[in-house]
Amino acid sequence: MSQGIVTVVGSYVTDLMSRTPHMPRVGETVLGGPFKMGPGGKGGNQAVAAARQGSTVYMVTKVGDDEFGSYARANFTKETINTEYVFVDLVEATGAALIAVDDNGDNLIVVALGACGTLTAEEVNQASQVIANSAVVLVQLETSNEAVLATVALAKAYGVPVILNPAPYHEFPREILQDITYITPNETEASSLTGLKVETEADALQAAKVIYLMGVPNVIITMGKMGCYYYNGGESGKLYPSFEVQALDTTGAGDAFNGGLAFALASGQALCDAIIHATAVAALSVTKVGTSPAMPTLEEVQAFMATHKL
Ligand SMILES: Nc1ncnc2c1ncn2[C@@H]1O[C@H](COP(=O)(O)OP(=O)(O)O)[C@@H](O)[C@H]1O
Ligand SMILES: [Mg+2]
Repeated sequence: MSQGIVTVVGSYVTDLMSRTPHMPRVGETVLGGPFKMGPGGKGGNQAVAAARQGSTVYMVTKVGDDEFGSYARANFTKETINTEYVFVDLVEATGAALIAVDDNGDNLIVVALGACGTLTAEEVNQASQVIANSAVVLVQLETSNEAVLATVALAKAYGVPVILNPAPYHEFPREILQDITYITPNETEASSLTGLKVETEADALQAAKVIYLMGVPNVIITMGKMGCYYYNGGESGKLYPSFEVQALDTTGAGDAFNGGLAFALASGQALCDAIIHATAVAALSVTKVGTSPAMPTLEEVQAFMATHKL
């Protein structure tokens, strides 16, 4: 099957993680550790997920003129992700996520988007040829709204389908919902989009109907361990259950799902098969610690799918 280009327009941040025996109170210094550093950001994680599945991936983002920026570029290159449109900001630092995980597994995260939060429409427009040649464009809400708008406008102009992962949720120009083909909120994001609670399959149907009426033809609400709910009009949709695995760290499950979905669609899979592929990529990602580093390869996914049936 031909591997179409996947262009990801989104965030890159360096994850700086430390374990802590307990969460520090205001003003408190806790002796924690071990410390771990890794590439992160929803855009970067989703790009790695798609690249490890075998897609030709172009990453459109921005880093600072600093060591974390060089680290980002080296990681993208290692993952065979094209960095031609990884811009460098001379003022803002490369984004970073400060992550503390306590002994209960609870986390506390501060994300400083830095350079990737200032990605401009003009910079996205420089990638217009690559977007035009893409099979799928994947975008989140972790950069600037102007970058998201420019991405959707270009993809629309060239007739390229867009997957919008509306995460982390914040208000964005809702008119772009008319111009995208797929949307992949998790329960919380679906709830923010619609004002409805999204906990059960019945809730997911109601929320999906509302999102569908906003203009998105394919609504996929991911629901953690429950799986995901797909709706494309009519009386009801379909729940795709998750694969049963020993979950070790569910951070980045949504990123794995989106990267896997983009790969599968870009390589010509029918949407129902693409959703199952994405579900398998996500399942394997939760069996490993970390975000980008936890993304499985295509071989791992194929071996898993051969032995695990939904
Ligand atoms: N514990 C789990 N076991 C197996 N698959 C999971 C698990 N948690 C999540 N997934 C898979 O990952 C997908 C995305 O997870 P979800 O939690 O909905 O996204 P997010 O990380 O954005 O909150 C789910 O639809 C499901 O297929
Ligand atoms: Mg979740």
